[in-house]
Amino acid sequence: MSQDIVILAAGKGSRMKSAFSKVLHKVGGIAMVRRVLATANTLPESKLHLVVGYQGEQVEANCQDFSANVVWQNDPRGTGDALRRVAPFLQENGATLTLYGDVPLIRASTLQKMSALSNPETLVLLTISLDNPTGYGRIVRDEQGHVTAIVEQKDATEPQLAIKEVNTGILLAPNKHLQGWLAELTNNNAQGEYYLTDVIAMAARDGVKIVTVNPENEAEVAGVNDRVQLAALERELQSQQAITLMQNGATLLDPSRIDVRGELLTGNDVVIDVNCVFEGKVTLGSGVEIGPNCHLKNCTVGDNTIIKSNTLIEESDVGQYCDIGPFARLRPGTKLSNKAKIGNFVETKKAIIGEGSKVNHLSYIGDTKMGANVNVGAGTITCNYDGVNKHLTQVADNVFIGSNSSLVAPVQVAEGATIAAGSTITKQVGEKQLAFARARQTNKDNWSKPVKK
Ligand code: UD1
Ligand code: CA
Repeated sequence: MSQDIVILAAGKGSRMKSAFSKVLHKVGGIAMVRRVLATANTLPESKLHLVVGYQGEQVEANCQDFSANVVWQNDPRGTGDALRRVAPFLQENGATLTLYGDVPLIRASTLQKMSALSNPETLVLLTISLDNPTGYGRIVRDEQGHVTAIVEQKDATEPQLAIKEVNTGILLAPNKHLQGWLAELTNNNAQGEYYLTDVIAMAARDGVKIVTVNPENEAEVAGVNDRVQLAALERELQSQQAITLMQNGATLLDPSRIDVRGELLTGNDVVIDVNCVFEGKVTLGSGVEIGPNCHLKNCTVGDNTIIKSNTLIEESDVGQYCDIGPFARLRPGTKLSNKAKIGNFVETKKAIIGEGSKVNHLSYIGDTKMGANVNVGAGTITCNYDGVNKHLTQVADNVFIGSNSSLVAPVQVAEGATIAAGSTITKQVGEKQLAFARARQTNKDNWSKPVKK
């Protein structure tokens, strides 16, 4: 059956104490509402509707790529009111699934279980039993166990408050009936709001079957109202992701000390030491080892590469069998060919480093094209910036650059050339040439040391 999916994101979220809409706060590096949209998008035959209000322009701008139908609710008057605003856009047949922008960890598998039970004469409710049901709408059942209503905490009687089965808020209702029910909603309740949950009692009255589904885990239906709950869901998601990584063949030396803020793909036998952070999309080939305290953002790392502790890699591609760090910084546009080595306190940026080339200590290599088997001595700097423009340094295969050299770009060093230590290279160096570009040493005989006056 085709589905309309409505994602509610109009609320103010005042307990976040934030200038940003609550649903734009991130869990696992991704805005909560984007997680919900992405999950909704995996369901077949679905049309997405996004209800925005408070900071709605921000929400709309951040979710444009999902091409959802954005519906404005400038003065939120309850979840039922939100659905009413979407009503004109709902398909005639099919059913409507209601999700929440601040309930980010709902799983597609749970929603599929709900869809499987959906039909024009059935309403599907996602419920859960909680030891402490405080704050939630209670599921009221008759003697036969049929759901007859949902009663909000603030409207519940003493016996109803004792009910442990609660409404997660997520429900799937047949459009054929939903339109009429929404039109019937009133706000005669403790909060003066239009409650979407009132449609349950209407469904029971109209003889529509009400069935319930439970989520696989409690975190799926946990909402975020403040930053304490945001942090709790962050930990929950991180531990779920760590389990998936281990199941996929990665060794995590401590699964509670890894943070994946985005998507991390790993080959077999990847080993990740403690306190590593992965952001955006990161791909690690088989046999990759990552030492403690590394931070990798939007990069790919080839098979069997070793990244030692305290290394930062951003927007870069690293080949196979490379050796990086400790304390290396690969900035955007770095491309390492296989077997390249980048050692401690080396910074690279827009640098192409050929196969087997080594930059082992204390260097800055920026805007550089370097061939294979180049040896860059300690403290070598590419002077890529003249104060106005950036220029390219080109170093061909088999070049040897002595320690503490400066390569003033634009400059080329041809195949097999050698640069003497301490040189400042401003002119092209030819094939197999040795370039000295430093003052000659002078030694004075019988030098008498100064004496203290
Ligand atoms: C709702 C349910 C309750 C359930 C609980 C689960 C209703 C009446 N109650 O209560 O049964 O146990 O969720 O968390 O549905 N929103 C809008 N527009 C509005 C009102 C709300 O977009 O006019 C959004 C809010 O931003 C929020 C979500 O809908 O993300 C839930 O609204 P909220 O007012 O927090 O409902 P609850 O009182 O939590
Ligand atoms: Ca809520």
